[in-house]
Amino acid sequence: MNNNDDKPIIYTYPAPVLRATARPVENIDGKIQNLADQMIRIMYSAPGIGLAANQVGELERLIVFDRHPGKEGRDPFVLINPEIVLSEGEEKYEESCLSVIDFSAEVTRNAQVKVRGVDRHGKPVDIEADGLLAICLQHEIDHLNGVLYIDHISSLKRALYKKRLKKKLKAKK
Ligand code: NI
Repeated sequence: MNNNDDKPIIYTYPAPVLRATARPVENIDGKIQNLADQMIRIMYSAPGIGLAANQVGELERLIVFDRHPGKEGRDPFVLINPEIVLSEGEEKYEESCLSVIDFSAEVTRNAQVKVRGVDRHGKPVDIEADGLLAICLQHEIDHLNGVLYIDHISSLKRALYKKRLKKKLKAKK
C-alpha cells in the first residue's frame, strides 16, 4: 500500500489492480497485520462496511468488514483466504462500492452464505450470514477475484456508467 503520507489510498475503477486476482495469504506476518489494521481504518473513515485488499493496491486474499453493518457501534473483522462454501436464496440490494465512484445499482445475489476462512490469528472460522452482511461478503470476495459489482448489472447500465465516468475523468484533466 502506497501510504507514505498516511493518506488512505483507495484505488478506483478502472484501475487494473481491481481486475487482478489476489493470491492466497500463506503467512499471517507483520505485513499482513499492518495491512489489516490500515484497511479497517480506511473502511471506517470512508465510511464503508467492507473493504478488500485489491482496493488498497495489495493482491492478498484478505477482506475486512463490519460484522453488524448498518448497526450502531463497530465490530470489525479480518478474514483471510475467504471462500464461499454454501449459498442459498436470492436477494436484490442497491449496491455501491468505494472503488466505483458516484454510482449505485441493484444487484441480485444469494440471500444466505456460509463463508470459510481464517481470522487474523490464523484460526479457521465459518461465518454464516444473511441480509446486508451476506451481500457484503459476496461483494468483497468478488473483489479478490477481480470482479466488481458493476459486472453483475446489465450491459446497458454498465455502458451508461462508463460513459459518465469518462466524461468526468476528462473534465478533471
Ligand atoms: Ni467494493
